[in-house]
Amino acid sequence: MPVWDPARYLQFADDRARPFLDLIEQIPTKPDSIVDLGCGPGHLTRHLRARWPDAEVLGIDSSTEMIERAIADNTDHFANYDVGDVADWVPHRPVDLFLSNAAFQWVPNQFEVITRLLGHLSDTGSVAIQVPDNSDSAAHQALVDLADRPAYRDALSEVRRLPRIDPHEYLAFFAGKGLEVNAWSTTYLHVLHEPDPVFDWISGTGARPYLEALDDDLRAAFEDDLRALLTEAYPAQDYGTVFPFRRTFAVATLSALGR
Ligand SMILES: C[S@@+](CC[C@H](N)C(=O)[O-])C[C@H]1O[C@@H](n2cnc3c(N)ncnc32)[C@H](O)[C@@H]1O
Repeated sequence: MPVWDPARYLQFADDRARPFLDLIEQIPTKPDSIVDLGCGPGHLTRHLRARWPDAEVLGIDSSTEMIERAIADNTDHFANYDVGDVADWVPHRPVDLFLSNAAFQWVPNQFEVITRLLGHLSDTGSVAIQVPDNSDSAAHQALVDLADRPAYRDALSEVRRLPRIDPHEYLAFFAGKGLEVNAWSTTYLHVLHEPDPVFDWISGTGARPYLEALDDDLRAAFEDDLRALLTEAYPAQDYGTVFPFRRTFAVATLSALGR
């Protein structure tokens, strides 16, 4: 697992918040208990609170750095944060909403993990998931191509490539388990204004496993090469640098079936 840097991750907080908002907008139930799986630095909890003022919220994340930041910034008395790995974390009681934004792509065997978690869903519960679906983007291609260059190949051979997850996969998975499913895909055109914005964006997320697998010298060279490829792939326009980002969404609910 990559080590997470909350400050770097929060650099594009507004752009990254948009899919979270679009996800929770589609949740049809009124949960009393919400577990945010892979909650990160906890900055999105206020949106849950705005939508469900009385809900108890628990954020779980495997990164100590992220949870420390979430606890330090927390001003919500009904929100708690704890370190835990989604792969084996177990709630103490049934949960009304399992929510996960931009985290399950990091979880190997995610469908086994979600199957286990469904056993902890309350009778009127929902699961809402958003994952990036941009592994065919120029940014990811740049990482894969660089990792295959002789200079980096040995050091990066073990880095796990993130899977492509099409909304159809979630639809078939949840519908096959008898849940009612709303699944869709959205491509966001983020318009970024900083220098090297795509480099900065992916350094906070998808590029982390690559950067962390390299020693300092190789990492510096890799970063220079990556910046050059990304500048070519995402040229700055007068109005900013456009970073297209496709994401997969699924909201699955038991309540719609009256269970
Ligand atoms: C891209 S961040 C998303 C954070 C937050 N959900 C958001 O939308 O801003 C991914 C988060 O997933 C967490 N994560 C990755 N694998 C995990 C696992 N197996 N269990 C718990 N958290 C995990 C990471 O530590 C990181 O904080």
